[in-house]
Amino acid sequence: MKQADGRTGVAVVGSGRAGMIHARNFAAGIEGARLVAMVDPVAAAREAALEQLGGARGYADYREALADPAVDAVVVVTPTAFHREIVVAAAGAGKHVLCEKPMAMTEDECAAMIAACDRAGVKLQLGFMRRFARDFVEAKAAVDAGAIGEVVLVKSHTRGPSVPQPWMYDIARSNGPLAEVNSHDIDTLRWFAGDDFAEVYAIGGNYRCPQARAEHPDFYDNVAMTVRFRRGAQGMIDGAQGVGYAYDARLEVVGTHGVLLAGALHASSVVVCGSDSRLVSPAVKSWRDLFSDAYRAEDRAFVRCVREGGPPTPGGRDGLEAVRAVNAGNRSIATGQPVKLEERA
Ligand SMILES: NC(=O)c1ccc[n+]([C@@H]2O[C@H](COP(=O)([O-])OP(=O)(O)OC[C@H]3O[C@@H](n4cnc5c(N)ncnc54)[C@H](O)[C@@H]3O)[C@@H](O)[C@H]2O)c1
Repeated sequence: MKQADGRTGVAVVGSGRAGMIHARNFAAGIEGARLVAMVDPVAAAREAALEQLGGARGYADYREALADPAVDAVVVVTPTAFHREIVVAAAGAGKHVLCEKPMAMTEDECAAMIAACDRAGVKLQLGFMRRFARDFVEAKAAVDAGAIGEVVLVKSHTRGPSVPQPWMYDIARSNGPLAEVNSHDIDTLRWFAGDDFAEVYAIGGNYRCPQARAEHPDFYDNVAMTVRFRRGAQGMIDGAQGVGYAYDARLEVVGTHGVLLAGALHASSVVVCGSDSRLVSPAVKSWRDLFSDAYRAEDRAFVRCVREGGPPTPGGRDGLEAVRAVNAGNRSIATGQPVKLEERA
């Protein structure tokens, strides 16, 4: 479907931190697309967004955007608990979907989203933007070319400066940092190993949020998870919130005859060495800066896929497998036991 001017009309649902990244990208110009609408039930958030975006229509309810014939595709960037409802409705209205990670709260919700998009014949792409980040793409090409031999271990970590919001303290409601922070690492592990998780073992603890300890003894702000893949390779993830030093996302892949490193704490290659003989270099402050090019590439890939056809990558199955891994990790933390993931038909 295309609008009269030949471009794909896009609505962004959710005008928060991540929503505004996509909205600004589409407003600034993604080839073949234009931003048509911005949805947010909070009037102040919606109006502030529209002021920056020039020309987009504002809707309080996503159903109004789905009824707008100028909208061909939606980017779903609401809190995760709303993803299933909005994606299923969007598919029912015949709109293509780019859904932010985590895909949903449970595997069943993910399966319902995939089924709805398949039934409607619309695209469902998942917001794992690291798959579009230049360093990660180059690293994957090197691994695929055999530069380090067979993959033995994939290790990925994400430690963020954001202090957890109080609603995240309830793991049943938020799925915890494994979902909000480490979904990206889970996807990176699957992408580099080219395989699914067979078993996980995770430990978590609350080291930085004393105010949450009494009411939410299960809350963790630091997690370490080991992984066994189906074909036998190994994985390791660690994640943290409120780290107070930088945004730290790095990858290491150990092969049968080599190792590959990607990502850096450095925000630039500039290093200053003064008369005190200390090296000083700026660190990455936020995922917004580190991955700004990746979000643009992700949005471009989505529009290309909608306009030219072909399967979206990463797609619904990638989102579902990440949610399964999150829930298995949380079960492991709660029980203190390794958790097996059954092979899906
Ligand atoms: N890919 C990434 O790196 C990345 C980064 C940050 C967040 N995210 C994901 O994006 C999603 C949003 O996170 P955020 O940090 O932007 O949240 P946020 O709290 O900053 O913003 C969410 C916005 O959605 C709005 N909203 C709530 N319910 C809505 C509804 N039913 N319809 C439309 N809008 C609604 C809220 O009013 C708010 O403005 C989450 O799933 C999060 O995990 C992904």
